[in-house]
Amino acid sequence: MIDRILIELDKGLKILSTTPNKNRKRPDEGLSEATSLSLEDKENHAKYMRVNHSGEICAQGLYRGQLFFNKNKEIESKLKEAASEEVDHLAWCESRINELNGSTSKLNPLLYIGSFGIGAIASIVDEKYNLGFLSETEAQVALHLDSHIKKINPADKKTLKIIQSMKEDEENHKESAIKMGGVELPNLIKKIMGAASKIMTTTTYRV
Ligand SMILES: [Fe+2]
Ligand SMILES: [Fe+2]
Repeated sequence: MIDRILIELDKGLKILSTTPNKNRKRPDEGLSEATSLSLEDKENHAKYMRVNHSGEICAQGLYRGQLFFNKNKEIESKLKEAASEEVDHLAWCESRINELNGSTSKLNPLLYIGSFGIGAIASIVDEKYNLGFLSETEAQVALHLDSHIKKINPADKKTLKIIQSMKEDEENHKESAIKMGGVELPNLIKKIMGAASKIMTTTTYRV
């Protein structure tokens, strides 16, 4: 058990402190940078990408937390596959934030630890809730990505393309969690998750 905790600590520190490797190329690679963006646009877009980056930190924490107690091999391989796609998202967000002269959130270590705990608890409760929890998380992430798409200046095709690709991936993660047997969560849990994600998105927009 101690070994596993140390491995998790190492993984968490790596996610929080190093630039992740990109497995897939950034979806906006062929698009050119908009020249008409104001400084204010750039600042705002960097903040939205910071929120998205923190969302991905939470996703990593959730996946690692869910894997910690999970014994089902099929769920394990799906979680690992989705987690590796989330690493791409993390890398895309981080490099775009740098291009827009923004910074990642100082709250990320806290968010990671909190998400890990939530994921671990969900996986202890019941396998089908574990998957239901995953599909609900993905659905909520896709929703907030959609709200960002509406707020980004359409001239910034690069940022938009990254967010759109992430949204498609999240929707696929959601579908695969449902296919594997994820059940719909009770409404109260969904509301609590929605409130937690609202707190995450509003705080990381600022810090
Ligand atoms: Fe993601
Ligand atoms: Fe996802």
